[in-house]
Amino acid sequence: MEEKTLVASAIYTLLKDQLDLATIENLLERPKVKTHGDWAFPTFVLAKSLRQAPQKIAADLAEKMVSTDFEQVVAVGPYLNFFLDKGQVSSHVLQKIITAGTHFGDATIGNGETITIDMSSPNIAKPISMGHLRSTVIGNALANITQKIGYTPYKINHLGDWGTQFGKLIVAYKKWGTADAVKAAPIKELLRLYVDFHEKAENQPELNDEARAWFKKLEENDSEALELWQWFRSESLKEFQKIYDMLEVSFDSYNGEAFYNDKMDKVVTLLEEKHLLKLDQGAEIVDLSAYDLNPALIKKSDGATLYMTRDLAAALYRKENYNFAKSLYVVGNEQSIHFKQMKAVLKELGFDWADDIYHIPFGLITKDGKKLSTRKGKIILLEEVLNDAIASAKEQIQAKNPNLPNQDEVAHQVGVGAVVFHDLKNDRLNNFDFNLEEVVRFEGETGPYVQYTHARSASILRKANFTPAADITYALTDENAWEVIKLLQSYPETVLRASNNFEPSVIAKHAIQLAQAFNKYYANVKILVADEEQPARLALVYAVKTLLKEDLRLLGIHAPEEM
Ligand code: ARG
Repeated sequence: MEEKTLVASAIYTLLKDQLDLATIENLLERPKVKTHGDWAFPTFVLAKSLRQAPQKIAADLAEKMVSTDFEQVVAVGPYLNFFLDKGQVSSHVLQKIITAGTHFGDATIGNGETITIDMSSPNIAKPISMGHLRSTVIGNALANITQKIGYTPYKINHLGDWGTQFGKLIVAYKKWGTADAVKAAPIKELLRLYVDFHEKAENQPELNDEARAWFKKLEENDSEALELWQWFRSESLKEFQKIYDMLEVSFDSYNGEAFYNDKMDKVVTLLEEKHLLKLDQGAEIVDLSAYDLNPALIKKSDGATLYMTRDLAAALYRKENYNFAKSLYVVGNEQSIHFKQMKAVLKELGFDWADDIYHIPFGLITKDGKKLSTRKGKIILLEEVLNDAIASAKEQIQAKNPNLPNQDEVAHQVGVGAVVFHDLKNDRLNNFDFNLEEVVRFEGETGPYVQYTHARSASILRKANFTPAADITYALTDENAWEVIKLLQSYPETVLRASNNFEPSVIAKHAIQLAQAFNKYYANVKILVADEEQPARLALVYAVKTLLKEDLRLLGIHAPEEM
């Protein structure tokens, strides 16, 4: 029986005439103070029917309690508090984890239905930013987490690969660029050309006309324009791919903005049919004042379609082709109005599934307290950040464990894992400052700390040559173990909370707490001493290792066996 039901049943035998089992179960709370027990039953609801003060009711119930399933049942003011039998609970949960392995906490809630995740989505010819990194790792973690509870995630990289900037790039490239320079360092060179164009266009406004003309050619499928665009795109992608490879993040689709060029007419037609388009200073808009939102711009006065129109076409395409149960957009907080408008337009079009669309916003990464901007050239190059993190991890490994065989592989896993963990450990809406030293520390609330704790548990199990058995009672009763047991036991709830709130930090926090509780256990208890309890202690180590590994996997991070 689940422990909450166990507690509720014990209360139910005393209150059959007043409350039913489900109501009692729903009333149960976790005591705010740890030393007050594991579950608390508030008696306030009974005051009226029993015509007694809650304190008195709690005291009476404590006295009448007959169940022997608990270590202790006591009244604490108006609450009836339960102390679980630690031996029983620990053995129960350790058995479950031993049987299920990393599948502990899996659920079938998603029924195999699809969740599309619009994530990463950098812009062609521009460096992939810290914001895109956030989108990539948050999206990837959400894919893993929703998959664990039974959904089928579908990861979409909605590349920013269309727009008037390509006209400018073509002009700049034809005037001042060379193929060799682009091939040697695509993003750097394309960015230089772009910045150059803007500087020169200030004194030579005719450049802008040329750029417009080239973009028009591109829209009309001119072969030279298309070829250049295609080439910029593929060179950029190659460079993005290096980062995705380092992060080991993959996508199910790279359909970006350009993919929707021939799919926007459909949206415009639908809007026309429903008489939703209005002319406003030559532009076509959808009025959204009923939603307290500014109008959505569908077509500019020169007939050009927009980011919004592409996103509407993409939403329709995704519903039609993937039949998603939910559709997530992992995009910075600064675009939240855009997604509100998008949902509102879909609602106006009569699509109920607009309610299944979720913008998953996240906060800003700053450097030394300042915002980063591409335009001022103030960017952190992601590849550099990752390489620095790997180098720093390598240094620490060499100092701590110079004989480790696969040092480079582990340094890679630790360095990259550190950056990813740092990104995911705070509530995603928080802004945070990026400081490499803090990110790769082996102590404190860091990725390496969790990985290190995992490796420590692996090493204990190796030393003991321990193999868990599914039919042994592994009972642990001491306080240090209990803190660990509680974190193991709450895992299925934790996974659900992370998934329901689309919040990977819930998993990262669980990993930190579990690692901390385990390290405290390790400091206070001699695990390897050969006594009667030893198998139970090792089973605990085994369970900790299993869930730390699973936590890290969900976040998209490796768990090396040794480091
Ligand atoms: N390319 C955009 C940017 O870098 C993000 C695109 C997000 N996805 C979307 N469907 N709008 O800001």
